[in-house]
Parts: sequence; C-alpha cells; structure tokens
Amino acid sequence: MDKKLLEQSLVLIKPDAMNNSLTGYVLSQLSEFHTGLRFAGAKIVNVNRMLAEEHYAEHRGKPFYAPLIEYIIGISHYPDEPWKRRTIALVYQGEDAVQKIRDISGPTNPHVAREKRPGCIRSLGTIVPLKDAAGNPIGDRIDNLIHASANKEDAEREIKLWFVPGDIPPLMRIYPTEVSSEHYYFKPGKLYKEYEKDSICIVAPGDVVWKSDMDALRLLFEGAAASCTVESVAAKYLINSHTD
Ligand code: CDP
Ligand code: MG
Repeated sequence: MDKKLLEQSLVLIKPDAMNNSLTGYVLSQLSEFHTGLRFAGAKIVNVNRMLAEEHYAEHRGKPFYAPLIEYIIGISHYPDEPWKRRTIALVYQGEDAVQKIRDISGPTNPHVAREKRPGCIRSLGTIVPLKDAAGNPIGDRIDNLIHASANKEDAEREIKLWFVPGDIPPLMRIYPTEVSSEHYYFKPGKLYKEYEKDSICIVAPGDVVWKSDMDALRLLFEGAAASCTVESVAAKYLINSHTD
C-alpha cells in the first residue's frame, strides 16, 4: 500500500461541540463521503489534567493556557456536572489527512473563520471573554469545536498520546510497535519495574506498545533523557481508568 494513502491525523471533538450538540455535524463534515478519509480509531475520553497538559504542552506559559486546559478537560462547559466532561478522540486515515482536516476545520479564531472560510467547522465557534475573581477582564478563550493535528509530526505525537496500538486495527497502524517483555509501573513523575504502593501498571509483558514508548520507558527508567516525558507515555494508559 502506498504510504501516502495511510497518512493519519488526530481529531478531538471538544467539549463545546458536545455541549452544543454539534458532534454529528462535525462527524458528517469529516465523513468519508466528504473527505475520502476513514476512521482508524475512536474513543470517548474523560480528559484528565495530565493528558490535557501533555496534549497542549507547546502552549504552556501562554496567557490562554490555563483556560485552555479547563476547556479541554470539560470544566468550562460542565462546571457542575463532571460526568458530562467528555472529548471524542478520533484518528482519521487517508491521503493528505492532516491538511484536509485542517482545511475543513478552518482558522483557529471563529471570527476569522467566518470571514475567511464561511462554512468551515470553526465558523460555528465562539470567543468567550474571561474575567478574574474580581470581575476584571483577563482576555479571551477561543471555543472552536475541534482540534486537528497541525502537521504530520504533531499527528504522530498526538495519536500516540491519545491511543494505544490496540485501539487501532492492526492493518491501519502506521507507527512501529513492540511487544513488551517487561512490567512498568507509574506514579506521578516516577517509574518502576516492580509494583510500588499506589503505582499503576502501565505496561505488562505481552502488551503491544508503541516502539517509541518502549524506547522512552527504557531511557527514562535509567534516568536518561528521552524523546518524550514519562507523563506522555503514561497518560494514554490512564484514559478513562482514573479521575484526577
Ligand atoms: O487549534 P489550533 O492548532 O488551530 O490553534 P493553537 O494556536 O495550537 O491553539 C490551541 C487552542 O488553544 C485553540 O484551538 C484554541 O481553542 C485555544 N486558543 C485560545 O483559547 N486563545 C488563543 N489566543 C489561541 C488559542
Ligand atoms: Mg495547534
């Protein structure tokens, strides 16, 4: 199969889309009929803070970072109903998947989207003014319904952050995997090969794991630098298994 036809991109249907009953609309805009792309993975995720912070690591320190984390977790749209805090994570596959989905999503800012690309998904978004506890304006949060990987490198990092290989049918997987022969246990900031009280087993012998995660775990366990953080490896195994 031509590698170009197997390109993948991560889509998140964000909590504002769920809250406004726009899930079906987004799915329909991205349907195989419109895009020629196919689902390779799908899950409903109660996003925890670790996953949110890893996903948006590039924005750490920016003024909109804290509101963005609360938005993707679902706190902003479901402040009093934590069980409703969900994001739908999808992997789409097909030629030019990344660019096609970015085009259908449209510009980040919904005002710009409405002006420059009427009809794109984000043209249905909103800009929410934010205030501090004293009621003073502290900027805006951009609620734009959908996340779409910006380029192929981001797509690989993001798909490996939200999905384990077993979430994707074997013939649709495009990143190398490995079968683990070891146990790895995780506690925030810590990694063990044997069970420690309050640790969580993230990898067990026989598990099919992203090869890059196995490489990272081996290095991180030795205290060496790796291509990603221990949190980015652990986060996907904790999806829907623990609350914060
Ligand atoms: O999502 P996209 O890649 O188009 O934009 P980004 O610059 O990577 O920002 C990530 C997300 O942060 C956006 O989709 C917005 O939801 C949010 N954002 C915001 O609230 N305020 C900004 N000034 C910029 C981004
Ligand atoms: Mg981005």
